Amino acid sequence: MNLGLPPMHRPRSLERELATGANPYLPARARVMRIQELVADARLFELRFSDPELARSFTWRPGQFVELSVVGVGEGPFSLPSSPTRSGVVQLAIRRAGVLTNFLFDHLREGDEVGLRGPLGHGFPVERFVDQDVLLVAGGLGMVPVRGLLQYLIDLREHFGRVILLYGSRSPEQVLFRDELETYGRRRDAEILLTVDSTNGRPWEGRVGVVTELVDDIELDVARTVAAACGPPVLYRFLLKRLAALGFGKNRIYLSLERRMECGVGKCGHCAVGYTFTCLHGPVFSYWDAINLPELIDQ
Ligand SMILES: Cc1cc2nc3c(=O)[nH]c(=O)nc-3n(C[C@H](O)[C@H](O)[C@H](O)COP(=O)(O)OP(=O)(O)OC[C@H]3O[C@@H](n4cnc5c(N)ncnc54)[C@H](O)[C@@H]3O)c2cc1C
Ligand code: FES
Repeated sequence: MNLGLPPMHRPRSLERELATGANPYLPARARVMRIQELVADARLFELRFSDPELARSFTWRPGQFVELSVVGVGEGPFSLPSSPTRSGVVQLAIRRAGVLTNFLFDHLREGDEVGLRGPLGHGFPVERFVDQDVLLVAGGLGMVPVRGLLQYLIDLREHFGRVILLYGSRSPEQVLFRDELETYGRRRDAEILLTVDSTNGRPWEGRVGVVTELVDDIELDVARTVAAACGPPVLYRFLLKRLAALGFGKNRIYLSLERRMECGVGKCGHCAVGYTFTCLHGPVFSYWDAINLPELIDQ
C-alpha cells in the first residue's frame, strides 16, 4: 500500500542523496520559527528551511533523525518528533545535555538560522503496520520519535487497527506532549496509558509504576499486533521479556536504539557495532536484527 512515503528499503550504504543536498556533510539553512518550553530542560524548536522549495518538499519517515548544526558551536543528531503528514515545519524536541544543546537553550532565538542535514537513518517500517494493531511504548525522551509515529498512525487512521501508547515518565511535570496525548485519548484517536515513577506530590490520574507494568493493563491480540518502542536500556530489558512471554515474534517488535553519532551517514564509524552502523542501518531495528547486536540492547 502506498502511504505517500518513499519505498521502504534497508540501505547498506548511503545509496541516495539527502533531501538537504547531494553533499551529505553540507547542512541546509533553516530558520527558527518558534521555541516552546515542553518541560523543564526540554524545548520544542520549530524550524523552516530557508529555501522555500526544500521547505515544501522535505519529508521523512517516523523514526528518522536530522543533524542540527550551529556554526562555531557544533552539530548533533535529533529525532524528528512530528509526522511527515504534517510537513512544512521541522520540529525538534531537545533536552539540555551539553555544549550544543546549552547553546540552543541559552542563545538561540526565534528568527536565527541553524543548519540541518537529513533526513538520516532508517525509520519505522510503517508499511508493515498496515491493518495491524500497533503497540507503542516510550520511556522518557524516547517519546520524541514515538510521537512522530503516533501522529502518523492517527493522521492515516483508517489504515491501522488499534493504536495503543504506553508512556512512562519520571514524574507528572516530566510528561512530554501531555495535553496533546490527553486530547488523542479523549477523542479516541488512540488508547493512551500514562505512568510516572513518582507523583512528586502533584495531582495525577494516570498510573504510578514503571511503563512495562502497563502491558498488563491491556488486552492484546498478539497475532495482529506489532510493537514499536523507544526508551532507555532498562525499558528494553523488561519490555522485551514481557512481549516475548506474551508470544510476540521478534520480527514484530521494532526498537529505536540511539548511540553516540557524529557524521550520521555511515562514514566516521562512531556509531558502529561490528559491521552495523546504527546511524545508517538504524536507529530503528527489529528485535530480530538487534538480538545479533548484543552491545545495542542490554538483554
Ligand atoms: C539518533 C539520535 C537521536 C536523538 N534524538 C534526540 C532528541 O530528539 N532530543 C534530544 O534532546 N536528544 C536527542 N539525541 C541525543 C542528542 O544528540 C545529544 O544529547 C546531543 O547531541 C548532545 O550534544 P551536546 O553538545 O549538547 O552535549 P555534549 O557536550 O556532546 O555531551 C553532554 C553529555 O551528553 C552525553 N551525550 C552526548 N551525546 C549523547 C548521545 N547521543 N547519547 C547519550 N549521551 C550523549 C555526553 O556523553 C555528555 O555526558 C539523539 C541522539 C541520537 C544518536
Ligand atoms: S555516526 Fe558516523 S558512521 Fe554512524
